[in-house]
Amino acid sequence: TTATDDTLRTPIVAVLGHVDHGKTSLLDKIRGSAVTAGESGAITQHIGATAVPLDVISEIAGDLVDPTDFDLPGLLFIDTPGHHSFSTLRSRGGALADIAILVVDVNDGFQPQTLEAIDILKRTQTPFIVAANKIDTVPGWNPNEGQPVQQTMDAQSDRVQSDLNEKLYEIIGELSDNGFSADMYWRVQNFQANIGVVPVSAETSEGIPDLLTVMMGLSQRYMKEEMEIDTSGPGVGTVLEVKDTQGFGTTLDAIIYDGTIRNDDTIVVGGLQGPIVTDVRALLRPRPLEEIRTEQEFEQVEQVAAADGVKIAAPELGDAMAGAPIRVIRDRDRSEVIAEVEEELAEIEVTTQEEGVVIKADTLGSLEALSSTLEEEEIPVMRAEVGAVAPRDVRVAETAGEPTNQAILAFSVDVLDDARDLAEQEDVELFEDDVIYQLVESYDDHVTAIEE
Ligand code: GTP
Ligand code: MG
Repeated sequence: TTATDDTLRTPIVAVLGHVDHGKTSLLDKIRGSAVTAGESGAITQHIGATAVPLDVISEIAGDLVDPTDFDLPGLLFIDTPGHHSFSTLRSRGGALADIAILVVDVNDGFQPQTLEAIDILKRTQTPFIVAANKIDTVPGWNPNEGQPVQQTMDAQSDRVQSDLNEKLYEIIGELSDNGFSADMYWRVQNFQANIGVVPVSAETSEGIPDLLTVMMGLSQRYMKEEMEIDTSGPGVGTVLEVKDTQGFGTTLDAIIYDGTIRNDDTIVVGGLQGPIVTDVRALLRPRPLEEIRTEQEFEQVEQVAAADGVKIAAPELGDAMAGAPIRVIRDRDRSEVIAEVEEELAEIEVTTQEEGVVIKADTLGSLEALSSTLEEEEIPVMRAEVGAVAPRDVRVAETAGEPTNQAILAFSVDVLDDARDLAEQEDVELFEDDVIYQLVESYDDHVTAIEE
């Protein structure tokens, strides 16, 4: 199968959902189950991502998966902390993820960030399934560690079964309220037309075999053609996070979704003031079995091929933006690659007007999502930028026209102390939230109050 592996890249799976609904626990469990299955060496830790190869998936899924049915190399899972906007996960022309798992706590149901995730999945037309998590918390539940979900559900008392089914049908109802026809995954024939709901527990691993089977089947069936790429070409990726790494200065946590990046490449990265051209100094990866998203003990690698996570160290990255594109130049024409990055930055549509509010967001993707929500609500935007709220933003907001425009909407970003003081002094209203629609709602309330 080596010949196939070279040309089929790993599908990228985003794990999304409301805070505390169990995204990280599910990924931990998948890694843990692999350890139990004696496959720990096969699981590789990546920057912001976990790669699970096909043989590990088939080991965990047991009878549910026949590995000979598949020729994709496995799955690359990207965890997205609830407080961080997963709209960072963008790539040229839309979503970075090929497919997504929307995690919903069966007790909590749909919550603000679940709805926000649904909006983004809809907008980017990303196929997804729902992991209805924490089924082990249904009162009276009898755990059957690691079992396929129908098996363990059948083994529960009538009372427990009906309690769980009620919760599951509530989730199916909420999906339908949001325009998605959905059903339990085992009743879904066409996963493009219907959303499959997979009951799982990240505590007991029940349903995890099903979850992996469904994800693998979905990617194989509907995405195989998109996975056929030339992984040896110049790398293309997306910045997940811009952060300082001890000994390396400002670095990029990135996902490479096409081609290969090498440690002697020159790259073009989207920055606040336009494309940044810089030479890679080092490509870093956590050492095996490190927690994802920890920053210690990196090892340097020579190259990274799609799809994979990597930390890129290079000079001049101070202005790089989360959500921005990365392109390797290698033997291509430098100005052509710069033009491509410029084009991609321009593609991120944020319409601004002569008068309007100031918006700030943590990533390009979230800026785009916030701006599209404001556009729907016909709220004009005068200035839109990635980054913390600074005094100059307050200066801009001051001159924004009508009193309702003298406002800054800050999504998942810090407000610098002097900016906060200045806003107070100049009567510029400051709105801060980690949930887009709550941010817009509090601004709406403010407008209503002014108008009354
Ligand atoms: P954020 O990253 O903060 O958005 O949260 P998350 O979605 O990654 O949730 P996380 O995995 O951190 O889980 C939150 C809490 O729920 C933790 O205390 C977990 O132990 C618990 N939890 C997660 N999944 C399950 C489950 O299936 N059953 C039970 N009983 N507890 C769970
Ligand atoms: Mg988490």
